[in-house]
Amino acid sequence: MMARLLARACCPKALPQAFRRPLGSAAAQAWSHGPLTAYMPEALAFPRPKDHQGLYKVSVEQGDTFWGALGRSRLTWITPFHSVQDCDLHQGRVSWFLGGQLNVAVNCLDRHVHIAPDKVALIWEKDEPGEEVRVTYRELLELTCRLGNTLKRQGVKRGDRVTIYMPPCPLAVASMLACARIGAVHTVVFAGFSAESLADRIRDGKKTVITVNQGLRGGKVIELKKTVDQAVKQCPGVKRVLVSMRTDSKFPITAQDVPLEEEMMKEDVCCEPAAMDSEDMLFLLYTSGSTGKPKGLVHSQAGYLLFAALTHKYVFDYQDRDIFGCMADIGWITGHTYVVYGPLCNGGTTVLFESTPVHPNPGRYWETVERLKINQFYGAPTAIRLLLRYGDEWVKKYDRSSLKVLGSVGEPINKEACEWYFRVVGETRCPVVDTWWQTGGICISPRPSNPGAEILPGMAMRPFFGIRPSLLDDKGNVLLENNISGALCISEAWPGMARTIYNDHKRFLETYLTPYPGFFFTGDGAYRTSEGYYQLTGRLDDTINISGHRLGTAEVEDALRSMLCVVLSNLMVLLLGAYVFVVLKKDSGYTQETLAAELQELISKKIAKYAAPEYIQVTHRLPKTRSGKIMRRVLRKIVEDKASELGDLTTLDDHEAVQQIIEGRKRLVEGHKSC
Ligand code: PRX
Repeated sequence: MMARLLARACCPKALPQAFRRPLGSAAAQAWSHGPLTAYMPEALAFPRPKDHQGLYKVSVEQGDTFWGALGRSRLTWITPFHSVQDCDLHQGRVSWFLGGQLNVAVNCLDRHVHIAPDKVALIWEKDEPGEEVRVTYRELLELTCRLGNTLKRQGVKRGDRVTIYMPPCPLAVASMLACARIGAVHTVVFAGFSAESLADRIRDGKKTVITVNQGLRGGKVIELKKTVDQAVKQCPGVKRVLVSMRTDSKFPITAQDVPLEEEMMKEDVCCEPAAMDSEDMLFLLYTSGSTGKPKGLVHSQAGYLLFAALTHKYVFDYQDRDIFGCMADIGWITGHTYVVYGPLCNGGTTVLFESTPVHPNPGRYWETVERLKINQFYGAPTAIRLLLRYGDEWVKKYDRSSLKVLGSVGEPINKEACEWYFRVVGETRCPVVDTWWQTGGICISPRPSNPGAEILPGMAMRPFFGIRPSLLDDKGNVLLENNISGALCISEAWPGMARTIYNDHKRFLETYLTPYPGFFFTGDGAYRTSEGYYQLTGRLDDTINISGHRLGTAEVEDALRSMLCVVLSNLMVLLLGAYVFVVLKKDSGYTQETLAAELQELISKKIAKYAAPEYIQVTHRLPKTRSGKIMRRVLRKIVEDKASELGDLTTLDDHEAVQQIIEGRKRLVEGHKSC
């Protein structure tokens, strides 16, 4: 269907004059000024930074000069901005590039079409290996414009919010960009979420959903349209469901359904881009918090786009002809920033990976690297750990000589996995960049483009340009020395940070800005080494990251509580791959095994498959303080197999219970390994 769509497309009409700007000449000129300005030509405008450290210093000490120069040169504006920033973390005010107007889709498409229309923008690595589809910049612009016109014809207006429930595919990217083009706000929902979770994310007044008839993942058909139908029943505000045909399978049509490709074929290949203010909303993406319902984090246009493009370029040392392979689903922020916006804003070629690391076998990633000649590979530690267990042979079978940089995202990468990634996957040639994130993009990470810079395994290392990390003690004092741990905060606003939580600014302030007034609180603990490098030590609150997907323990606990209400006496969900302790009422009728199987299935249905806990341990009691609080830190140590380091137990009410839990965990984990 997509081929037909593209075959019907005619040449794009002339681009508006405002978007015609030759690129590249500044870079060429900069080579003559030495490696630093070749790396970042704008450095010519800064007060003579000599090296990367110098450039970083400029970025934090003269933020307006730094970001102003980058904002002007790296983005194409419809109306230039008059002030670089107006930010105050005390007040919760964050505004970048004030007075400026631009269109994100123009920055990601039109300006590249003008220079290299036939350059490949997307390589869709379909679930079926070897069936990749390449989409050029010209084609992606055409798809985006047709889709934008379709949305407009269906009544979608500037500022309206549109839910996208699609697996990674070119029309999903075109849907995101079409929203950006017409000034609508997209909310992509991971296409593995259940109907209930999808409905939670459609509410808040969204009238339009874009989906596919079916998805394909790991060789299995996923009935996405059916899930949408169930979700829409709970959301009476939905007026239209645009359905793309990923497979040939027909589906029962409802009154709201609109056949997407058919409608797109009727539309023109030009769509006037909306002039958006820098701080207008670009998208909102739901993420799990430690309490309550998922929160819709809001990202705005210019600052987000610039930060996405810069981090993509400098963290991965992305060069013009490279093929960038971020394995994340577009339903996650990693997919937004490093599958779509960063690479496309840089005019790069980006891979859209639809499958799983083990389909049809555990060599899938590396076979894809060989076939597509991927230069930068960006994946989650969970996947790396999983593949490590299958052994080196699956990796060595395939040629990985194209690889230059390996990235890790979303959670700490343990030493063993990091070492394997570096030695086996990257043949000790490719630096492993452990990228630590906050809301919209990478904030602390090694930068391999910095020649001679040290990279230590499993360490996020250095802040990115413009990021000022601070460690604070529990009284809120800034810790100035090195060799110290504290709560990791960021002391100044940066362009790529989220602006608010949709319809709940109070919650945004409470989550990020009020815990340490004047600082952005990340929720993580970190250690600063004697060299000033940062090592993340884990969440200080109760959210977990599984396969790079952020999940609130509260969300899993809520779901489990509602399912187990009759038989449940107590419950505790912990970090580390979601380890659940359950205390059942007497005579519940469950055994450890029957309960685990049932709960895993229920959580998959109620939230998503990835949220299903790996371990469910049934126990008679949970360790509590004498005042009745469950001692999480004790449970955490037991789960981490560090029972000899339980710390101060003077307030513990029942030592016997702890011993039983230690033994129970041992039996459970050993049983799991021998399966
Ligand atoms: O706890 C850290 C974890 O993810 C959190 C940020 O989540 P979010 O803003 O939703 O972005 C998710 C990006 C995939 C951080 O506070 N985190 C992210 N990357 C790492 C990490 N923890 C350790 N190491 C990382 N590389």
